[in-house]
Amino acid sequence: MVIEEPADISCTVEEYGLQRHIAELDEIGLTVVDKETLRVSDAWVDQLRDGILRVGESRADATFELDKNPTKAFTGRPSEIGHMIFSHLVYEDPVFVDVLTHPVKKALMTHLLGVGHRVAVSDGWIKWQTPDDWPSEETTGFHADQSVVPAPWNWQLPHIANMNWTLTEYSREDGALAYVPGSHRLERLPELGEALPLAIPVDAPKGSLVIFNGALWHGSYRKTTPGLRVTLIGQHCRPYMLPFQDFKGRIPEATIAANHDPAYLRSLLREDEDQMQAAPS
Ligand SMILES: [Fe+2]
Repeated sequence: MVIEEPADISCTVEEYGLQRHIAELDEIGLTVVDKETLRVSDAWVDQLRDGILRVGESRADATFELDKNPTKAFTGRPSEIGHMIFSHLVYEDPVFVDVLTHPVKKALMTHLLGVGHRVAVSDGWIKWQTPDDWPSEETTGFHADQSVVPAPWNWQLPHIANMNWTLTEYSREDGALAYVPGSHRLERLPELGEALPLAIPVDAPKGSLVIFNGALWHGSYRKTTPGLRVTLIGQHCRPYMLPFQDFKGRIPEATIAANHDPAYLRSLLREDEDQMQAAPS
């Protein structure tokens, strides 16, 4: 058995001033890192946002304009009328690969999941004004992302963690993530109806990174404003789990080599597995 050394993220924590965010992940189970701390440009954020809109238009055969609700009548479950999720974004544009290796994301994800974690999901989420006839305050029911693993959990060793990049302004009115601070420490799923009265919204400017523990109770609020909320979603898992979406062997070597952190990218994509199996134990 290979025993991994604890990850040393202290350099990045120091360089970007992430101490508060590490503490929030431990105490609250979620943290929001703003664009200034991330040192990302407006142009880069817009590239992610526009990439998701482009993928959405192509796959849904619809027009998505930021300040308008789509006019196309989509079919689906009533709870899903009002948003669409577009999966496997990493195949669509190198920018969706590069977002995986941002140093702040790497450090915070490593704090939650240790060394060798995998990217499990590469999704874009477009959400628009919730239809008037939707009866509930929440549009995504409350859950924890690591529900595939039976409780009890250890909040200090989550199986899964999630990153959400807010690519439009993000507030309760705009249909934000709703979460229950500290609920990861209960180490179980919520009962039906238990979480909503305890929940608060994520309030984040455009271009922020939201990271949270896979044991945290969360859902989302109805969107009361017209127009689009655009987010990039990326659940990650520990290396003993298989990713929900599997990207191994499907990203061109040239794309990996061009990334600023190819070793981390190879680990995220499970491209290091042959190497791990060959290593002495
Ligand atoms: Fe979730």
